[in-house]
Amino acid sequence: MTIETITVFKQDPAPIYKQIADQIATMIEEGDLKANSKLPTHRWLADKLGVTVGTITRAYAEVERRGLVEAKVGAGTYVSDTNKPSWVFEQSTVAQGEMNFGYNIPPLLDRGDMLKQAMQRISSSNSHLNQLMLYQPPAGLDAHRSIVAKWLNEKGIKLAAHRMLFSSGAQHAIQMVLDTFTRAGDTVLVEKYTYPGVISLARQNQLTLKGVDMDEFGITPESLEVCCQRYSPRFIYLTPTLQNPTTAIMPEERRRDILRICESYDVYVIEDEINGLLLEKAPAPMVNFAPERVIHIGAFSKCLAPGLRVGYMSAPEKLYQHLVMTLQNHSWMISPLLTALTCEMLTSGDAERNLTIIHNEIKKRIAIAADTLSEFDLSYQQGGFHVWLTLPEHWRLSEFVSRAAEQGVIVKSGELFAPPGGSVAPAVRLSLSSPQTIEQLQLGVDTLKTLLQSNPVSEFTL
Ligand SMILES: Cc1ncc(COP(=O)(O)O)c(C=O)c1O
Repeated sequence: MTIETITVFKQDPAPIYKQIADQIATMIEEGDLKANSKLPTHRWLADKLGVTVGTITRAYAEVERRGLVEAKVGAGTYVSDTNKPSWVFEQSTVAQGEMNFGYNIPPLLDRGDMLKQAMQRISSSNSHLNQLMLYQPPAGLDAHRSIVAKWLNEKGIKLAAHRMLFSSGAQHAIQMVLDTFTRAGDTVLVEKYTYPGVISLARQNQLTLKGVDMDEFGITPESLEVCCQRYSPRFIYLTPTLQNPTTAIMPEERRRDILRICESYDVYVIEDEINGLLLEKAPAPMVNFAPERVIHIGAFSKCLAPGLRVGYMSAPEKLYQHLVMTLQNHSWMISPLLTALTCEMLTSGDAERNLTIIHNEIKKRIAIAADTLSEFDLSYQQGGFHVWLTLPEHWRLSEFVSRAAEQGVIVKSGELFAPPGGSVAPAVRLSLSSPQTIEQLQLGVDTLKTLLQSNPVSEFTL
């Protein structure tokens, strides 16, 4: 196929610009139009096809939107070179076609336009751009902190802008807290099953993690009290809303009980609310009740886009400047360009619209998983990305995980969430947002259902 053979069908229900765009796209994808080759002028192609110049402009814009061509001002439109090193992104998260339930990531959605528009808006003033290219105060620009605080405030998360600082995502925020306030050999309390990122950090910083027992609402006050007496910790790391991995949501009364115990043993709470932002109605975070006892951590990685790498935290007055100093030591500041883009998406309403799209997608995915796996012990929450599946007794954890993998279904073993030396849950985490398509999700849960119903052929040893 060549440009000369493009044809339009007036009786075809597809708009003419789209017919043209589709044919150009096919030529590029099939190699008939080579990288860096120039498309004909709008006028030439319009005359050839007997359509208006406006139709060709729309067709080229559509092909550009798909990332296949680039319009160069004053020079024309060129086929993109997708092999240019700067544009080669590795699909590091989910391999094509794999039924991968491994990653706690937002569902794959086309967010290109949202980012493009936010970029255009922040570039409308040179003085603004010039400011973004300078060093800024380490905690972040006041204007950016205020925008994030206001957005969170509307969600019921009461943070004071002057006590906030930005981080490169929530993982970095946890690292900053541990780097600042703990030393090798210290003990930090965590939930009995906890976020693997904190286990990895503790290993690197030579910290000992001790798991506090949980029920369906999160850690229990009784177990916390015992752990405080036994280990004299200074910090406890918690994910009280949409706990990773169990999905537990701690009710307000329990939050207050936990805070009372922490107060009496002088323990600071590191409250990681990253997943709480996904809920349409989440309980008030612990920081609202005790801002001087809680270091609150959040990020836009789940509710907006992990690639932004924008997280934030707020800290008690006594601790705040120490954290700012750590941030300065790590990287001076978080790139103001990224916080500006994030703030632009928050103020324009795009972040909220994006969250609604995520909610709708996740609702569909939860319905499929809950329906297909209804006969099994499944914990999940509306809005949350993952489910926690306790295995039927006839299955051994490691066997189940490897048998699932053999059949192309990747799930995360309960072992990954247990601090070293802690007991391992006979359960697996399935991130429903992780499969790229609903079809892969359905196929994956169907495969898991058959596997769960079957009897494993167990290895035995002498
Ligand atoms: C509980 C929890 N905290 C922190 C993170 C890391 O978030 P970020 O990508 O913002 O570093 C995750 C990611 O899955 C998480 O589940």
